[in-house]
Parts: sequence; structure tokens; C-alpha cells
Amino acid sequence: MKRFAGATLIALIPACSAPPAAENATEIAAEDIVSGSIFLTAETRDLQEDNFANPGYLWVDRGEALFSKAPASGEACITCHEAGLSGVAATYPAYDEKAGRVLNLEGRINQCRVTHQSEPAWEYESEELLSVTAFVANQSLGAPVSVDVSGPAQDIYEAGRDYFQTRRGQFNLSCQQCHTENWGKRLRGDTLSQGHGNGFPAYRLEWESLGSLHRRLRDCDLGVRAEPLPYGDPLYVAVELFLAARSNGLEMESPAVRR
Ligand code: HEC
Ligand code: HEC
Repeated sequence: MKRFAGATLIALIPACSAPPAAENATEIAAEDIVSGSIFLTAETRDLQEDNFANPGYLWVDRGEALFSKAPASGEACITCHEAGLSGVAATYPAYDEKAGRVLNLEGRINQCRVTHQSEPAWEYESEELLSVTAFVANQSLGAPVSVDVSGPAQDIYEAGRDYFQTRRGQFNLSCQQCHTENWGKRLRGDTLSQGHGNGFPAYRLEWESLGSLHRRLRDCDLGVRAEPLPYGDPLYVAVELFLAARSNGLEMESPAVRR
């Protein structure tokens, strides 16, 4: 994990006495919401948009193969999902009646592994789970993010929002301060995006791999020297729901390419 320079971070913290500028609002105006891909260099963006060169498609292809293959004890995903899962990923995280909780896409896929295939859940960040998640997410490429935070999802959404707005770590910074109040500013070679999850799972050049949104969140928590949550933690799922709701309408881009 690369370290952020403390001085740069301190400079990001808005002075308490300064009146909030338009870009320092607590929410991003709907018409200003943009994907992280617009802050990339032209070279990285071209890589994302080229299905042959984008390394994320290696995982999509592996995911497709796994989707079609019957596991030891149950039926293949494709047997029950012959019609495909077009547009589905854009609606996740979502409240799941049977599970009685909010599931992200990884959680939903593992729910099928366990209840419909009688197989053990895939480990978070395993090649299998990343690949199948990328394959399913890619079937929503271009679809607008459209999560529902009403009803039983509301409390989870609020928990995610609280996490987003709470300062943490040795640098005492919140997600909000970087991604809502300071997006567009430079931070050690990166341009701060608005922190949307629409490109995930994404291929990160720094990781030399595809990674889940939770891996990105862990990097952000580590960046302010806070203790990151474990992969798949319900609180990260809550943050994921909050992020998705905050980006409703934005086009899905997985597998995105990021620096
Ligand atoms: C010190 C500033 C800082 C803080 C605090 C921070 N991040 Fe980030 N975050 C970054 C940087 C830098 C990147 C990489 C460039 C970019 O996309 O903004 C990033 C990337 C992201 C991305 C990927 C966006 C994309 O399009 O690839 C998401 C999602 C994200 N952050 C969410 C969060 C969340 C949620 C929190 C709080 C748990 C958080 N960040 C805290 C600096 C920060
Ligand atoms: C035996 C049939 C069966 C198998 C095999 C199966 N599923 Fe499912 N899947 C379902 C059913 C039924 C649902 C609807 C929710 C429920 O009842 O669990 C569902 C729901 C889903 C959803 C959410 C759809 C939505 O509209 O929200 C996803 C994503 C999904 N499955 C992916 C997979 C993947 C990936 C695999 C393979 C690892 C898989 N499923 C294997 C039957 C199956």
C-alpha cells in the first residue's frame, strides 16, 4: 500500500472557519455525479474501453467458464440462470428476503452456492468469487446503478452513510472529506474521484489484479492509517449500499481499469 503524504492530507482538511465553497457541499449535486473513469489518463481509459486489451476480461472469461460448469454436488449456475443475469448487478447490494439481510453481489452469488448448489461459499477475494462476480457484473455494463434503500434496507443504508461521514485513522479523515468535499483535487499522483463503486470488481494496475470494491475500501482505510474491516464485513456491505445509492443513475463499468 502506498503511503499518503501527511502534509498533503492535512492540506485537504477544510479550515473550519472557511465558508463552504460549492464543491465543499456535503452532497454532490445530481448533475455533477461522474464516474471515476473520467479522472483517469487517456491511456488508462482507453485500456478500460478496449475489451481485448482490458485485463479485467481475463476474469470475466474465467467467470463465464465457472458459471457454465457443474460443481461436484449441484447444478451449474447456467442451468438455473439460462436467461442470463443482465441488469441484475446494477440493483445490488439489495435486501434478500430469504437471507433476511442486505447482500452485495458476492454475497448473493455465495447464497446460490450454498442454498442452490450445496457447495461451500467461495472465499472473499478468491479467484473464483472475483471471476464469477466480474462475469455477472459485466452483464450490467452500461446499465444505470439503481439500488433500493427503502424498507428493510434503510437502516443498513444509514449505517453505511455514518461510516462514510465519520473521521478515522491516524489522519482523522472521513471518506466524505476526500470523495465529496475534495473530488477533482490532486492527491499524490491521483486525482480524487467521487468514490463510486460502479467500476468494481475493477482491475487495478497497482494490484496487478482484479479486486473487489472491499479491497479498494480497505486500501482507503489503510490510506488514512485506520484499521480496515475484514473482507465481506456487513459494515462494508452497508458502505457499498450507501455508495451505490449515492451513484444511482451512473452507468455500470465493471471491469473498470484503475491506477
Ligand atoms: C485521504 C483521502 C481518501 C479517503 C479518506 C478515502 N479515500 Fe477513497 N480513494 C482515495 C484515492 C486517492 C483513490 C484513488 C483515486 C480515486 O478514485 O479517487 C480512492 C478511490 C476510492 C474508490 C474507487 C473509485 C473508482 O472509481 O475507482 C472508492 C469506491 C473509494 N475510494 C471509497 C472510499 C470510501 C468508502 C472511503 C471511506 C471508508 C474512502 N474512499 C476514503 C482517497 C481517499
Ligand atoms: C438450482 C438453481 C440455481 C443455481 C444452480 C444457481 N442459482 Fe442463482 N438463483 C436461483 C434462484 C431461485 C434465485 C432467486 C432467489 C432465490 O430464491 O434464492 C437466484 C438468484 C440469483 C441472483 C440474484 C438475481 C436477482 O435478480 O437479484 C444471482 C446474481 C445469482 N442467482 C447468481 C448465481 C450464480 C453466480 C450461480 C452459480 C455460482 C447461481 N446463481 C446458481 C437459482 C439458482
